[in-house]
Amino acid sequence: METVLDKNIVIDANTSVTSFSWKGDSDALVFDLQGIRNCLHNFESPIIAVREKDGVGVTTSGNLSISEVKKGNVVAWLPPISTSQLGDPSFCETYGVKAAYYAGGMANAIASEELVVALGRSGLMGSFGSGGLSLNRLASAIKTIQSELQGAPYMFNLLHNPFEPDVEQHTVESFLENDVRVVEAAAYIQLTPALIQFRAAGLTSDETGNIEINNHIIAKISRKEVAQLFLSPAPEKILQKLVAVGKITREQANLAGNVPLADDITVEADSGGHTDNQPLVSLLPSIIALRDKLQEQYQFKNPVRIGAAGGISTPESVLGAYMMGAAFVVTGSINQSCVESGASEHTRKLLSQAAMADVSMAPSADMFELGARVQVLKKGSFFPMRAQKLYDLYTTFNGIEEIPITVREDLESKIFNRKIEDIWQDTVAFFEQRNTDQITKAAQNPKKKMALIFRWYLGMASRWSRDGVEERKMDYQIWCGPSMGAFNEWVQGTYLEDHTNRHVDDIAWQLLKGCIYRSRIQGLKLQGLSFPSKLETYYPQLQESLWK
Ligand SMILES: Cc1cc2nc3c(=O)[nH]c(=O)nc-3n(C[C@H](O)[C@H](O)[C@H](O)COP(=O)(O)O)c2cc1C
Repeated sequence: METVLDKNIVIDANTSVTSFSWKGDSDALVFDLQGIRNCLHNFESPIIAVREKDGVGVTTSGNLSISEVKKGNVVAWLPPISTSQLGDPSFCETYGVKAAYYAGGMANAIASEELVVALGRSGLMGSFGSGGLSLNRLASAIKTIQSELQGAPYMFNLLHNPFEPDVEQHTVESFLENDVRVVEAAAYIQLTPALIQFRAAGLTSDETGNIEINNHIIAKISRKEVAQLFLSPAPEKILQKLVAVGKITREQANLAGNVPLADDITVEADSGGHTDNQPLVSLLPSIIALRDKLQEQYQFKNPVRIGAAGGISTPESVLGAYMMGAAFVVTGSINQSCVESGASEHTRKLLSQAAMADVSMAPSADMFELGARVQVLKKGSFFPMRAQKLYDLYTTFNGIEEIPITVREDLESKIFNRKIEDIWQDTVAFFEQRNTDQITKAAQNPKKKMALIFRWYLGMASRWSRDGVEERKMDYQIWCGPSMGAFNEWVQGTYLEDHTNRHVDDIAWQLLKGCIYRSRIQGLKLQGLSFPSKLETYYPQLQESLWK
């Protein structure tokens, strides 16, 4: 590319781009759809729209000059742009990634080692789905990911576990022992000593008093009151307790009082799995405003960045999030349909065929008694309906024996496919290994026993989906948000329609490139150009040979 402007020319700040004249090879001006599309795709070059006799043409080369007397022939102009400019560049610096994007954790290793490694190798971050795994399984994932990535970016999901605080504590200890430096903390409603220990244990200061943060927390939230906890320093009371039991030093506790608890907050709107179904357009600005208020109060050296998740799966939704001020974007549901995900082939195929309206809320296994719900795929599975039936029975009766015998027989033959007594025996065996407290409570309270039996079905339904258990296909519990359907619609007719071609890293880069393409269209539109709608959509086309 030649010099766009002669450096000696002084231009008034109010000068419109329409005062510029373009000079170049007229063959370089394109007027046809494919030619214009190619120019828009050429992100490394500026894009210049020029009025000629035959209409407005577009080019990426030539010279611009300015005339004080007459109007030039340039109608619009955009500079080159790269994916690393999207969002907040400091996100890329902190985590050593090439773009402000990450793939969120998906429990039970659905966000698998392969998923995290594929993203890490392409310069992006994925959060390993630690939730629901044993400590041994987690340790093996840490080992694999670290040895495969050799310093490339990755993170681990850290789930708040109010019912089993030991699990959270041991998970954090495993992270600290194995040098896991970035966690995606989720499901917190209150702060725990384990989480604060992770943060404080990574704080050091140099001789000038500069605080270095070595253990990073990206906190996923959907409520303001929880966001506030992460936008503030760790509570003094918990820090002092950690010092008293020797988990952190007094110096680390002091340093923790001067930094926010999290480096980043992911604002999660209407998503797959646990969700408050909030619209991103409302929630994101509200949390950004809260961050600004608390930053004003605390004056942290590095303000907490705010990113966006929930419903992000097309170039337009990625661009929309960045334009609303998201420092980074996060995807979830779409990654479950990819080759690297831990979900079974049947589940990935079902996901790739889902439309936006094919999702619904269903009772959740982990907080069943509290009435918590998760967003799941309803097409191709009876799970949402069956889980709801169990929840309705739970709220109507005080124990399994109270349920009329005909209904119980129906449950055994139509939903459980097993005798209730056998399920109870399995449940006892499960909790004897994990949490005997649950069995003691169930022995004293028939309603609790009924909840545990029903939770067996809800828990197994996720496992059947992950493992691809053939005879339980109609019971698969598949967490999924409307973002899945939006993605499927976008990639229809391209190689990404087929789930066996979906790779987490490719999808991420397609979204980011599509976002830039879309931003260029919008940038030119703001300068008065209009485009045929056919040109406005970016289609995935990295692997040209796979185009249909
Ligand atoms: C199958 C599945 C499992 C998930 N499990 C977890 C989890 O264990 N921990 C977590 O923080 N988020 C979990 N999420 C949420 C994702 O990390 C991500 O924030 C969310 O899916 C983004 O919204 P989207 O589904 O609209 O893309 C899960 C999502 C899905 C679809």
